[in-house]
Order: sequence, then structure tokens, then C-alpha cells
Amino acid sequence: MPKFDVTTAPRHEAKVGNQWWRSGVIYQIYPRSFADANGDGIGDLAGIRSRLGSLAALGVDAVWLSPFYRSPQKDAGYDVSDYCDVDPLFGTLDDFDAMLTAAHSLGLKVLIDLVPNHTSDQHKWFQAALTGGLVEVGGAKLAARDLYHFKPGRGVAGELPPNNWLSLFGGPAWSRIRDENGEPGDWYLHLFDSSQPDLNWANPAVQAAFEEILHFWLDRGVDGFRVDQPHAMAKAAGLPDHPDVERAGAGFIEGEAAPPMWFQPEVHPIFRRWRAILESYPGERAMCGEAYVLPLSLMAQWVRPDEFNQTFNFRFLDSEWNAATLFANINESFEAFDAVGAPSTWVLNNHDVIRHASRFGGNYGRATASDGIGPNSPQPNAATGLRKARGATMFMLGLPGASYIYQGEELGLPEHTTLAEVFRQDPTFARTGGERVGRDGCRVPLPWEAGAGDANGFNQTGEAWLPQPEIYRAYSRDQQDGVAGSTLELYKQALHLRRNLRLGEGSFAWLPEFTRDEVLGYRNGDVLVIHNFGNAQVTLPAGEVVLSSLLGMQTGHSLAPDQTVWLKLHT
Ligand code: NOJ
Repeated sequence: MPKFDVTTAPRHEAKVGNQWWRSGVIYQIYPRSFADANGDGIGDLAGIRSRLGSLAALGVDAVWLSPFYRSPQKDAGYDVSDYCDVDPLFGTLDDFDAMLTAAHSLGLKVLIDLVPNHTSDQHKWFQAALTGGLVEVGGAKLAARDLYHFKPGRGVAGELPPNNWLSLFGGPAWSRIRDENGEPGDWYLHLFDSSQPDLNWANPAVQAAFEEILHFWLDRGVDGFRVDQPHAMAKAAGLPDHPDVERAGAGFIEGEAAPPMWFQPEVHPIFRRWRAILESYPGERAMCGEAYVLPLSLMAQWVRPDEFNQTFNFRFLDSEWNAATLFANINESFEAFDAVGAPSTWVLNNHDVIRHASRFGGNYGRATASDGIGPNSPQPNAATGLRKARGATMFMLGLPGASYIYQGEELGLPEHTTLAEVFRQDPTFARTGGERVGRDGCRVPLPWEAGAGDANGFNQTGEAWLPQPEIYRAYSRDQQDGVAGSTLELYKQALHLRRNLRLGEGSFAWLPEFTRDEVLGYRNGDVLVIHNFGNAQVTLPAGEVVLSSLLGMQTGHSLAPDQTVWLKLHT
């Protein structure tokens, strides 16, 4: 089959007037790094509230907040010790309510992060499990160890972990505890850091407890959840060895033989119950699964009509930025998601991957497989990266479906690539002895006002849990606001056009005359979206250029390398 066979490629029909989550743009807030009202160097809920106006002005439909729950912060809050309270670092439940009210009054929906695969080791259940105690869950007294995966070790004296599974953050996925006499005892499972013990989702008490957590936040008025690692929740019965002894589950690899810790079928009834709970509330509540399940035909099973509303399209996030790969990946997306009536949820950035303004400025491989850029890595070319990133996002935002953007990408923010070791906090760094630099470089506090308070307006004190690089000053929001050609203005313009032209609810078909190695183009309603992957100018078809990723650099009616345009046809 030819590489760009447009005749057999899927088309997508418009779905105008559907639920918001099918077409909305959701902005990911990473609370530690968004805005810091109390000046302690860590962002907080009051900070978020004070800056929500700028997100409404940006033109997004919703925000997703990464975790702000009580947590020892061993994995930046993805280690939750109390799912129904706010960590004092971020404020109080009252601060949350005030933030939620403010968001709603600006017309923004709010999704919060649910972390069901594991708790913190400081969670009261795990603390009770360590001593072999009982906990009360849903009115019943239960052995706390049954809520997790505790097992005796292998070997003569139990000195070897119960199976060969490895942690995604490096090292074994098991840690051994000591019994009450101080002797080495059983092992517990943690697919992430040892401070993040995996819950036993085969236990109905765990299932019931999380349903209560959903109610707790839905009753407070949240519009839904982004669900962390849902594909890891159920494990194969008996926790057998991973067949790939080399990698043993240290991250899912597409096509690997029967991974015993990823996408076990037992999870689906759980999500069906969650969906029913969401739908028992008014107002189109929704949940997005961070389901790293590929190929997309498999992922699509997670967004069947009674399961998740959305799943992040990791195929798209992971795309190498070339025409052939994108052509194939976008086709796979529409084929898979349309087959189950779900939106494709496009995404290019999040708090786990190298920011695309840097990723596209060098050779860093697939987004989810790459692992930060350190001072000793080859450094990205900032200009190339930003030019490509702007083109890529404009290509994405013209596509029908939902889209996620990650805080700072609207500023064209690069990764912090020279962060000194002493500041590194991602557990990956410590667990691999520094071999993997980890994800801190994409999590650095945002610059709001150049030069304000040393941290460029992140707060007034200049404190910052991760220091900003010098270059962030030039990317500050106030330097871009109202400035024609700035990345911020480009995002604003794109989001407003996308809303007015109803592109999120729109249709999709490739443009045969603009689908080849050097260029990709598609039609969404009356809008043509065309991106130039080649090195030469591409002559554009007739139509009004309503958006260009290279403002001010346009030469007549042609498309420069890395440029995306939106052309409106006047029919
Ligand atoms: C995925 C989250 O996005 C990541 O930041 C976190 O470390 C892991 N899940 C573990 O919760």
C-alpha cells in the first residue's frame, strides 16, 4: 500500500452539539509550579484562583489539576496519604472550594487527578499494613495488608522478591518490610517508588472506598477526573513473573507478551461503575484515563460508551514529527476511536515528558520514552524547537476531538535543560543513581511577569522549589500578552478560532494534494489545516489565511518549513 494512501484513509464526520468533553480544550495545571500566593516557593490553590482569569482569556474550556491532596510529596503528590483533604502546602478544602467557584464563574470546568493504583506509604491503610493491623473501610474491619500486595519472598529465607517485576522509576518493584521483631518479613509491591505501594484492586473494599472518594469530590462540584495509571490497577492473578526478563514491566512496550501488570480485563467493570456514578450527577461530568494502552484499537476499549469519556492519545504524543508517522497515527486514531464513538484526545505535552519546544529542537526520541534533558545531554536548538512546536500545536488544535495543553506551552516555554543535580526531585533521578535525569525540567515554576520578585511573578518572594533558568524571563506572560507574533497570542488566536469555527466538533478528511512526505493537510469543515515538513516553500491553495504558526514570517501565499496555516474557504 502506498505510504500516503488517502483513498483508504478514514474520514471523520462532524458531531456538532455534543458533550463538552468530546471537543473541549483542557489546560493542565501543575499546582506546585503554576502560581504561588503565599510565597513559600510552591504553587498553591490560592495562586491558581488568582490567575484563572488568564486561562479564561486564553480560551480553554477546562482545567485539570495535578494532585494537591495530602501527601509526603515523594512523587510530587502522586503519592497520596489522604484522598479527601488538601495538603497544607497547597491550602485547605476551603481554598479548593473558592478556586472551584471562581473557575465555574469564569466558565471553566475543573477536572482533578485521581490516583487509584497506589497510595503513599504514609496513608493510614499502609501504616496499619506495616504492623499487620486492621483498618476500618466502609464500616467493616479488615486486615490492612489485604488492601495491598504483600507476599513472602522467594529463596531459602525469602530474601528474593516474590517475582521479577521492576519499578518504572528504576530498581525492583518490591520492597521488604521488617516484622514486629525487627526481622526481615514480607515484601510489598510498588510499580513506582517504594513510597507508593500498589493497592489490591481485586479487594472489593478498595473498590468501594474509591467510589466514596469519587462522591466526595463530585459532591463538592468537580466536573470530573483525570485518572492516573488506570491500566496498572488490576494485576494478573497470582502475580506471575513478567515474560520479558530484561524489562520485566519497567514501562509498557507495545506488543510485549502478556504483561501481567498492564491492562488486565478486570478493570473494566470498575470503570463502568465510575462512569455510572459520574452520570448520576448533573452537568456532563467526565473522566479521562491516563491509559497507556497501545495499539489504539486496544485503548479504544477503555472509551467504550460506558467507560472513560476520554483517554490521552499517547500514539499522537509519541509521534515522531514527520508526515508519514503522523499520517499513520492520525488514521489509526480516527479508526480506533470512531469505532467506539469516542473522541480522540490529542496531546503533545504533560508533566512527565520533555516540553515539545525542546523535544522538537533535538533528537530526543519518543516523548514517553525520553527522560529529561540534563546539563550533560546534547542541548536542544531553541529556535528550531519553538518553530516546530508552534507548528505542531496549530496542527493539533485544528483536529476534531478534545485536546490537552500543559501549563507553559502557551508561552513556548522550553525545558529547563541545565538544572543542577542538587535541585533534582523526581524519584527517577535517585532510583537510577542519576543515570536518568527525570522529569523535573518540565515542571519548573511558570514565569508571569518578567523580573517580578526574582521568580518572574510566580510569587513575590523569589522562592521556587525548582529554580527557573535565566531564559524564562524572556518567556514571561507579560512579555507576550498583546504582542503580535508571540506564542501566547498564537495560542489565544487558535483557541478562539477553534471555538468560533467549531473545529473541535468538526470533521476530518485528508487533502489528497497536500498529503506527502513534505506536507500534510486536512480539511475540517470549511477550514484547511496544512503543515510543511519539508525544507522548501509550499504553495498554498486559495483561501483566507486565518491562522499562521509563524506570524510575521509569512511570505505571500506560501508555507515556510515547519509552518502550519489554517485557511478558511469561502463557500
Ligand atoms: C503518572 C503520572 O503522570 C506521573 O507523574 C506519576 O509519577 C506516575 N503516574 C505515578 O503516579
